[in-house]
Formats: sequence, C-alpha cells, structure tokens
Amino acid sequence: TQFHIAVIVGSLRQDSFNKKLATALARLAPADFTFKQLQIGDLPLYNQDDDGHQAAPVLKLKSDIKAAQGLLFVTPEYNRSFPGVLKNALDHASRPYGDSAWDGKPAGVVGVSVGASGTAMAQQHLRNVLAYLNVPTLGQPEAFIQAKNGLFDEDGGIGEDSKKFLQRWMDQYVAWVRQHAA
Ligand code: FNR
Repeated sequence: TQFHIAVIVGSLRQDSFNKKLATALARLAPADFTFKQLQIGDLPLYNQDDDGHQAAPVLKLKSDIKAAQGLLFVTPEYNRSFPGVLKNALDHASRPYGDSAWDGKPAGVVGVSVGASGTAMAQQHLRNVLAYLNVPTLGQPEAFIQAKNGLFDEDGGIGEDSKKFLQRWMDQYVAWVRQHAA
C-alpha cells in the first residue's frame, strides 16, 4: 500500500524556508510514501456563517486531507506562535461540526525559523490545537530548525550538517504514520 501525506506549510512566502524544508524532507522518505503540499493561500478568512456552504478551496482542502493517510505540518514561527494562515486552514477543515477532516490523521510537526528558537513555541501552540482535533502527533524526536547557510544543498536537498538528524526524524515519522494510519 501507498501512504499519501498531506503537507501543510504555514508560510505563503514565495521563497519560504519552510516550503523548501517540506520539499527536502519528502526526499528522505521511503518509496511507499508520497507527499503533496496543500493549498491554504486561497482560502477565505474563516466565517462560521459559511459552514453550511463551504467555498470551493475549502472543500478541496478537506478532500485532500481526507484522502491522505498522514499529515505533515511544516511551519514558521510568527510572534511566538504559528501563523494565522495556518490557523485559518485548521479552522476551515475542522468544520462543519462533526465533519472535521483532521480527525484521527497521524501527524508530524517540524519548522524552520531564522531565530535560534527554531519555531519551538509555534510548534507547541500547534500541538495544542492538534490535540483538540484528535490528531495523533509524533512526540519525539522534536525538530526545531534554524535557517543557516548550508541547511539545504545545491540540489534542494537537506545539507550535510542536518541530514542525519532529519533522516532520523523522518524514519520515526514514517513509523508513526504506519502505526496510526487507519
Ligand atoms: C517572524 N519571524 C520570527 N522568527 C522566530 O524565530 N520567532 C518569531 O516569533 C518570529 N516572528 C515573526 C513574525 C512575523 C510576522 C514574521 C513575518 C516573521 C521570522 C521568521 O522566522 C522568518 O521570516 C522566516 O523566514 C519565516 O519562515 P518562511 O516564510 O521562510 O517559511
């Protein structure tokens, strides 16, 4: 069987380090894992009045999540939390009440920031939300990455310094998804 992973990147920035990290991480996975970065930049601002008639990008996001066996959140830290665009996506796909797309999907959380704290606080806030959404989230190893020269190699892969660490992270993530995927 094939494991499809829905990748949710918390940055809309063109040259996002987190987007690059998501792409590079996918290369560390085994052949039976495929990764697809989902669109969250085209979602309207969440409004509960629309729960009965969700917009097309919301329905697309939800069907992409439901079709996946696992989730990978790759997020920057904005003001010591995760970005509003990511919260917007989490809220959209959790509704209408009783029809959350997130329910039960195993997840991993990683992130890269320019600051030395490496998105630690953003990830902690995100874990709080994921716990409520009944998303079993890999606890260890944690991955708090700082954007430095050499994080990525010329080919867009993970650079030498971080490769071993992130390979171990990916191995644990893969085992987690295999264990928890329905
Ligand atoms: C940041 N940045 C940031 N970095 C950090 O380590 N902790 C923080 O709390 C913040 N806060 C913050 C707020 C806002 C509004 C912005 C725009 C940026 C810097 C952040 O790490 C940097 O911009 C990264 O490059 C963002 O990730 P992407 O877009 O490269 O994936």
